[in-house]
Amino acid sequence: RLPSAVRIVEVGARDGLQNEPRLVDTRVKVQLIHDLVDAGLRSVEVTGFVSPKWVPQLKDASDVMSAVQKKNGVTYPVLVPNIKGFDAALAAGAEEIAVFAAATETFSHKNVNCSIQKSLDRFRAVITAAQAHDIKIRGYVSCVVGCPYEGHVAPEAVADVAFKLYEMGCYEISLGDTIGVGNPKSIVQMIDAVLRRGIPVSALAIHCHDTRGAALANVLAAMSLGLSVVDSSVAGLGGCPFAPGAAGNLATEDLIYMLQGMGIDIGDVNLEKVIGIGHRICQYLGRKTSSRVSQATICT
Ligand code: HMG
Ligand code: MG
Repeated sequence: RLPSAVRIVEVGARDGLQNEPRLVDTRVKVQLIHDLVDAGLRSVEVTGFVSPKWVPQLKDASDVMSAVQKKNGVTYPVLVPNIKGFDAALAAGAEEIAVFAAATETFSHKNVNCSIQKSLDRFRAVITAAQAHDIKIRGYVSCVVGCPYEGHVAPEAVADVAFKLYEMGCYEISLGDTIGVGNPKSIVQMIDAVLRRGIPVSALAIHCHDTRGAALANVLAAMSLGLSVVDSSVAGLGGCPFAPGAAGNLATEDLIYMLQGMGIDIGDVNLEKVIGIGHRICQYLGRKTSSRVSQATICT
């Protein structure tokens, strides 16, 4: 039942950088986005129009979005938590946004300073405004198998939030294992609950942080249920400032290596180029890549 084609959503410029303590130069962010598109990635998240008090690293969201030279056939989603963020995203030329809710109350409060219901109410206003401007809306659900504050998360709680976002008008729901505690069994149980609630598999994406090394296995488990959209981050950068212990996302290089090796169509993506981009951004950040494929390539 594995899908024959997978769309990769590259989140490195947003999720990958949002937790970096040292401010990354705006030009470096823009170059990163251009390079990722040049390497063949077709969905590249750009930034988050969130409060700079909460996420200082993304305070240049408008500058980054405005400087990105968009290419036909590529989508450039940006995170938006409220109407203020939506207005700024619109002014900067965003054509796709992503709203983000949590499956647990504690994480919702830590991440967006309000209850799940309140965050959904805010998103309803954002989604209505976006629809009036023909802007596509993606939805995230965080903590889909485990929460740094509440521990185990019931699949039904995830299904509830995911379905509400879908009903409100999100064309795709990305299911986030924010702190990387899932395994193929818990991921499948969670997705089963979401599917039973009535969201078609074609409207689901999986977003795995690789904290405990299970991200690729979890992606494959999700794909075995028919999911064909996978979020990943170049060099495995990433983490949420409000999720203690959350390490990077699944590395895009490792995902590309697996999918291309399996003969799954991911479009015309150049793995060597993505490896090079990962090296350059890691060099800039003074970090070691988390991509195993990249490490293996350096070794040979
Ligand atoms: P708040 O403090 O409750 O909001 O934050 P507020 O309305 O009281 O505003 C506080 C200040 O922020 C005000 O400024 C606002 O103007 C300003 P002041 O008047 O004090 O000078 N402000 C804004 N500025 C710019 N853009 C905005 C904006 N909104 C308010 N949009 C809020 C509430 C939601 C804004 C805040 O909690 C926030 O920005 N949270 C974002 C947190 C975040 O970005 N988390 C990481 C992304 S989620 C994630 O990583 C998980 C994911 O990857 C999936 C996964 O891994 O599972 C998606
Ligand atoms: Mg994330």
